[in-house]
Amino acid sequence: MRLSRYFLPVLKETPAEAQIVSHRLMLRAGMIKQSSAGIYSWLPLGYKVLRNIEQIVHEEQQRAGHVPVLMPTLQSADLWRESGRYEDYGEEMLRIQDRHGRDMLYGPTNEEMITDIFRSYVNSYKDLPLTLYQIQWKFRDERRPRFGVMRGREFLMKDGYNFDLTKEDAMHAYNRHLVSYLRTYERMGLQAIPMRADSGPIGGDDTHEFLVLAETGESEVFYDSQITDLKFGDREIDYDSVEQCQAVLEEFTSRYARTDETHDEAVFNEVPEERRRSARGIEVGQIFYFGTKYSEAMGATVINDKQEQIPVHMGSHGIGVSRLLGAIIEASHDDKGIIWPEGVTPFHCGIVNLKQGDEEADAACDSLYQQLTNAGLDPLYDDRKERAGAKFATMDLIGLPWRITVGPRGLKNGVVELTCRKTGESEEMAPEAAVAKVVEIYKSL
Ligand SMILES: Nc1ncnc2c1ncn2[C@@H]1O[C@H](COP(=O)(O)OP(=O)(O)OP(=O)(O)O)[C@@H](O)[C@H]1O
Ligand SMILES: [Mg+2]
Repeated sequence: MRLSRYFLPVLKETPAEAQIVSHRLMLRAGMIKQSSAGIYSWLPLGYKVLRNIEQIVHEEQQRAGHVPVLMPTLQSADLWRESGRYEDYGEEMLRIQDRHGRDMLYGPTNEEMITDIFRSYVNSYKDLPLTLYQIQWKFRDERRPRFGVMRGREFLMKDGYNFDLTKEDAMHAYNRHLVSYLRTYERMGLQAIPMRADSGPIGGDDTHEFLVLAETGESEVFYDSQITDLKFGDREIDYDSVEQCQAVLEEFTSRYARTDETHDEAVFNEVPEERRRSARGIEVGQIFYFGTKYSEAMGATVINDKQEQIPVHMGSHGIGVSRLLGAIIEASHDDKGIIWPEGVTPFHCGIVNLKQGDEEADAACDSLYQQLTNAGLDPLYDDRKERAGAKFATMDLIGLPWRITVGPRGLKNGVVELTCRKTGESEEMAPEAAVAKVVEIYKSL
């Protein structure tokens, strides 16, 4: 993409309404525009990152064997009357009537709808296990939408639902989700810690929230500092293996890590004092086993091998796809702007032409652009007739991890400059070497 042909409405001023850095930077970098409280348009740069995050979520869900579907945002109230949640859900649910006076709602979540799909087609234990998921917009009429996409009213969520014959099978699905979430967040350059959370009125311990530590997080968390040393890394895992998934769960959940809802001072005090931490965190996902709550209420049953009709065991598992943009920026920025992790960056590499209109500089930039594109990368070439300082400021603000700077003086010596956004370090090298290095970095992801 050439910047002169792109739509990147960066703001010079810091918007007054934004209280936290990720919100400020998303507005300043021209990623989102608020259309009404908690509802945003995704401008090209923001949309690109959103799609990259979605892509990682899709890949990791499918790696775990989960099957993508897409359900509508508008749902019939009757389904929710079956589960009893139409009355219970309260003011967060946006209720709508169509022209015939039928009660509809904009889905805040999809347990009812997916259970209805399941019961319409699946009758036998032989069709289990099954996990269906989607990435779809949700609406929750939050009391206090704030912090930009962190707490929106309309937001994008990956929501997945497992259907299993027994509680043990459903717990395997739970563990599988935990493992796949660890991989998902790490690919985005994030450390998200599974923490024991409150299961609400349903009871039981079988729910974990994934939290990214950040001062601006809305959740209060307590943990054993050893937990931040754990890394999933690039280990191979067989998602069908009950033992392997269980072992990962134990590794990542055996140390103390809880949100304030389940925090227990007495248990926490058993952790050696120098390892006790209290901090704030951003909830970027949650996994949940809830048994037969919906399958019983809505008649989602299968015939088992003894010809008995039994309700399936279910769980639901969410990732805050749009919230993740905010969480990543909270975790990765400096006073100049965003620093995108390579896994989600909107463009792989920026090209800055210090002297637009100079024949040699223009040709060198065009050639770099071609080489990067031919290697399957997506560069952003700042080809505007702007001062160098302004070009650097834009690149720093939008946070591309790598930048190649091209100017007549360097070209005389046969070099361009390759700069790492994170460390600020620059290195002079031949254009081909710069391309090779950038290509290599992305190949190793
Ligand atoms: N209003 C929102 N704006 C953006 N993302 C959200 C919002 N509410 C929930 N999410 C994201 O969707 C994920 C799954 O939804 P879930 O039902 O677990 O949310 P929740 O526990 O109600 O969230 P919260 O406690 O933050 O209100 C959450 O982990 C979070 O990352
Ligand atoms: Mg939650």
